[in-house]
Amino acid sequence: MIAQVIGLYKSYRSGNAPLPVLKGVDLALDEGEVVALTGPSGVGKSTLLHLIAGLDRPDSGSVIVAGQEVTKLKGGELDRYRNRTMGIVYQFHFLLPEFTALENVLIPSLIARTPEAGLKRAKELLAEAGLEGREHHYPSQLSGGEQQRVAIARALINDPPLLLADEPTGNLDENTAASVSSLLFGLAKRRGLAVLMATHNTGLAAACHRTARLAEGQVR
Ligand SMILES: Nc1ncnc2c1ncn2[C@@H]1O[C@H](COP(=O)(O)OP(=O)(O)O)[C@@H](O)[C@H]1O
Ligand SMILES: [Mg+2]
Repeated sequence: MIAQVIGLYKSYRSGNAPLPVLKGVDLALDEGEVVALTGPSGVGKSTLLHLIAGLDRPDSGSVIVAGQEVTKLKGGELDRYRNRTMGIVYQFHFLLPEFTALENVLIPSLIARTPEAGLKRAKELLAEAGLEGREHHYPSQLSGGEQQRVAIARALINDPPLLLADEPTGNLDENTAASVSSLLFGLAKRRGLAVLMATHNTGLAAACHRTARLAEGQVR
């Protein structure tokens, strides 16, 4: 098992009253498993992904990824977890506009201080993403689908065992979405990557190994 969520609770504040969102979420992901996270807008999918990514803290409960209790990581350990153990992609690509595709993909490997291995992997990932010949393009010179492919390559540059994706095809037209999702499935299969992907796209969810549906604060 690569990731396990146990009894996770999270509420936000709404004025003075707490707004409970996650009410005891349990979820487990095996190595290489691609799981769709579904449920209506506002149900807490992004909240759950952020907690697994260590971007926010739960009220209670556990998130264990690659043997580490993510909810207890701090400082350098948390940075290292986010840099090496998991990758994340969003609906929007968040590429840095003043850097090329290749440079954007390389940034996490510079943070990990593995620039040489990073350069080799970045070129491989960009080729796998069908972007050979576009390494030196700036984000503004790429199509929406290409930008998203670069963001996926960047998320995987340090070879994490877990990829989190928050509606990764939500901004794309149907054909582009299909090609981006087939890239994700191909990468996951070839690399034995576990993927947890929030999506509203029923076709995409059906192509995953399994669906975890969030309803009323729990996974059904
Ligand atoms: N930072 C925040 N502060 C207050 N409420 C929030 C915050 N983030 C999300 N929420 C609320 O939590 C609920 C779940 O949001 P979210 O996890 O984004 O759902 P989903 O991704 O499934 O659409 C929503 O009701 C949303 O308004
Ligand atoms: Mg969301």
